[in-house]
Amino acid sequence: MASNFLLYGANGYTGKLIAHLATERGLRPILAGRDRNTIEPLARELNLEYRVFALDDSATMDTALNEVAAVLHCAGPFSRTSKPMADACLRTKAHYLDITGEAAVIESLAARDTEAKEAGVMLLPCVGFDVVPSDCLAAHLKRRLPSASRLALAIQGMGRISRGTATTMVENINRGGLIRRNGKLTGVPAAWKTREIDFGRGPVKATTIPWGDVASAFYSTGIPNIEVYAAIPASLRRLMKLSRAFGWLLGTKPVQRFLKKRIQQQPPGPSEKERAKGKSFVWGEVEDDSGRRAVSRLSGPEGYQLTALTALAIVGHVLAGNFSTGFQTPAKAYGPDLILEIEGVIREDVE
Ligand SMILES: NC(=O)c1ccc[n+]([C@@H]2O[C@H](COP(=O)([O-])OP(=O)(O)OC[C@H]3O[C@@H](n4cnc5c(N)ncnc54)[C@H](OP(=O)(O)O)[C@@H]3O)[C@@H](O)[C@H]2O)c1
Repeated sequence: MASNFLLYGANGYTGKLIAHLATERGLRPILAGRDRNTIEPLARELNLEYRVFALDDSATMDTALNEVAAVLHCAGPFSRTSKPMADACLRTKAHYLDITGEAAVIESLAARDTEAKEAGVMLLPCVGFDVVPSDCLAAHLKRRLPSASRLALAIQGMGRISRGTATTMVENINRGGLIRRNGKLTGVPAAWKTREIDFGRGPVKATTIPWGDVASAFYSTGIPNIEVYAAIPASLRRLMKLSRAFGWLLGTKPVQRFLKKRIQQQPPGPSEKERAKGKSFVWGEVEDDSGRRAVSRLSGPEGYQLTALTALAIVGHVLAGNFSTGFQTPAKAYGPDLILEIEGVIREDVE
C-alpha cells in the first residue's frame, strides 16, 4: 500500500521550503510540478524522486497519484489549480491537502464532502499559516464558550509576502471584503471595519480582510457569524478603501497584467534571515447572545516557516493513518491543540 506523499508545486517558493524541511525531517516526498527545468534539479539536489506533469494531463497525474497515499498541493492560485488535483485524488483515492486560503476554493471542496466520503478520501485544504493557527484558535475558543454565536479572528505579522501570495491577492483585489453572517458568506466593502486589537504587545489597528477562515472556521466551529481582521499599515487601509471605487479598474486585464509583472520583479518571498527573525500573531474572540465573551491568542514562527511546519505536521498524521474521510478543516480533523504540536507556538487565554 502507498505510504508516501507527492509534493506538487515543489519548485514554487513555498513548495521548495517544504521540500527542504521535509528532507531535513527524514521524509522523502516525490517532488512534482509542470516545469521539468526546475523540478529535476531540485529533486537531484535533495536526492528525491520526481514526476513532471501539468494539471490537464490526467493520465500522467493518475499514474503519479496511484503511487502515493496523499498529495500536498502547493501550486496556486488554487482557484485555477485545486479542482483538477482534487478530481485526480478522488479518482486515485489519494488524500488531498493544500495550502490555499481562498474562501471560494474551500467552499468548492466542502461541497464535495459526500463524494470524498464515498471514495474514502480526505479533502483537507488550508494546511498552511492561513488557516491552521487561526482555525485551531477558533476551535479552542468554541471549546471555551460552546454557546458562541460570533467569532472574530485577527492576524498580525505578515512581513514580506511571496510572489504566489501576491498573485493570489491581485487576482482577488476587485472582489471587496467577505464575512460570514447567519451562516452565509456575505460580501462587504473592502476594509469594511477597523478595530483595535491587542495581539500581546499593546493595541494596534486591524481591518477586515477576506481571509480563508470566513469559510473554514464555520465548518470547524459551527459559529454562524465570522469576521477576520489583519493588522495592516494605515496606507494599505486607505488603498483598500479606495479600491471600493476603483476595484473594477484593478480587475481589468491590462491592470492585472501590469500588477503581475511588478510582482515578478520582486524577490520570490522572505529570505532565510527574514523567516528566522519573523513572528506571527493570531488573536480570537467569541461572544454569545447573552453577552459572555472569551479571548485567546497565539504567537508562533513567521508565516511561511509556519506554513511548512503545519503542512508537514499534518502530512505526518495522514501518513500515520490518522485521517477522517470527507471534507475537513485542520481543527475539525485534528482538534484545537494541533497547533501546539508546532515548535515555538504559544497559546494564552486572555479573558
Ligand atoms: N495558506 C497559506 O498560508 C499559504 C502560504 C504560502 C503560500 N500560499 C499559497 O500557495 C500558492 C503558492 O505560493 P508560492 O509562494 O509557492 O508561489 P510561487 O513561488 O509563485 O509558486 C507558485 C507555484 O505554483 C505553480 N503553478 C501556478 N499555476 C499553476 C498551474 N496552472 N499549473 C501547475 N502549477 C502551477 C508554479 O509552477 P510553475 O513554476 O510551473 O509556474 C509554482 O510551482 C499561492 O497561491 C499562495 O497564495 C498559501
